[in-house]
Amino acid sequence: MDKKDLGLLRINGERLLNSIKEMGAIGYDPKTGGRTRLAFTDEDKRSRDLLCKHMSENDLEVRIDEIGNIFGVRNGSDEKKPPLMIGSHIDTVRDAGMFDGVFGVLGGLEVVKTLNDNDIKTERSLIVAAFSNEEGARFQPDMMGSLYYTGKADIKDLLSSEDDSGKTVGEELNRIGYRGSDTVQVGCYLELHIEQGPRLHAEGIPIGIVEGIQGLAWWTGEYFGESNHAGSTPMNMRKDTLLAASKLALEAEKLALRIGKGSVATMGRIKPHPDIINIVPGKCSFTIDFRQFDNVLFETGKEEIEKLIISCASERQLNYSFRNVAEVAPIVFDSEMVNTAEAKASFLGLKSMRMISGASHDAQFLTAICPSVMIFVPSTGGRSHCPEEWTDAHELENGCNVLLQTVSELV
Ligand code: GLV
Ligand code: MN
Ligand code: MN
Repeated sequence: MDKKDLGLLRINGERLLNSIKEMGAIGYDPKTGGRTRLAFTDEDKRSRDLLCKHMSENDLEVRIDEIGNIFGVRNGSDEKKPPLMIGSHIDTVRDAGMFDGVFGVLGGLEVVKTLNDNDIKTERSLIVAAFSNEEGARFQPDMMGSLYYTGKADIKDLLSSEDDSGKTVGEELNRIGYRGSDTVQVGCYLELHIEQGPRLHAEGIPIGIVEGIQGLAWWTGEYFGESNHAGSTPMNMRKDTLLAASKLALEAEKLALRIGKGSVATMGRIKPHPDIINIVPGKCSFTIDFRQFDNVLFETGKEEIEKLIISCASERQLNYSFRNVAEVAPIVFDSEMVNTAEAKASFLGLKSMRMISGASHDAQFLTAICPSVMIFVPSTGGRSHCPEEWTDAHELENGCNVLLQTVSELV
């Protein structure tokens, strides 16, 4: 088939949706309507097993690396040409929707199935990738798989990261049987994803061409004060750590609003100790997530957050400790890749708009080692990281066809 004929190819939308639903059943909780597949848990293992099975059934050679990244390789005819990788993740946050990450991985597999159906041999090898622990919901840092794959982190540090119960990534990876020793090369990278924000849906535009991703910084911290009796300890004699953490949450909000230009700050976790109705909390742990696209403002925001963590402790004479547990600088995608994906949306008669991603993605690391771009589809009502996350079937199909056509141009 020449390039012109490849333009006639379309993915099978129903097959794609069925595969997403099949994956979405793993870890599903009927009480919440969400599914939970935190990295390296039994549920994560079941979703990995399912993916590997489908990769093998579709003639992909499965390779696993040291951090458990899964690569399904479809060999091309020209070994000298570096492979094209389509990737994302299959781990989830708690009570997630069924599209975040899974759409990118199974969308890649759907592209492979379409090429197989049509007996198309490509020059470049094609790789479908599922990167480990993208979410960082259990083990930090997030995007652990792509961080390792792109050489940005030492394997020993990643394997020793602990969850709340003290289990390490290394132990859990061995336990689920996904600690490999293989790897693959990459020449360019594509990631298909739901927007996870409101813009495409609100503007009625089916395709987002992602030009860049905002920077992300995460901290975990603890305040140490004094646990004491809630009835007999006068207000002016308390060392209440929950109040300090609460103030930090509000100050972080003010900071994000003050810096502006899309800055966002979130305290997603807060845990007083001993967590009892009649005890002034003597210890409180918390997390902070800060994001911003502009490099200078990102740096300013990070410094200010750290100052706030300290000042909220000092004003109540508390001790503190905090650690930066994840950080990714803002990135801009390769302009040729952006142009190619945009042209393919237009070729398919689909309106598109260029945008910056608010959420982080594995592409944020891949772009440092090869030309990369992301394609977005609408998220109904802008909801994500919650059971209400939704994208209609025809929108998934549109996005996957843009992916297929972009792949066809690049292989
Ligand atoms: C990843 O999903 C993130 O942006 O937090
Ligand atoms: Mn994702
Ligand atoms: Mn996510």
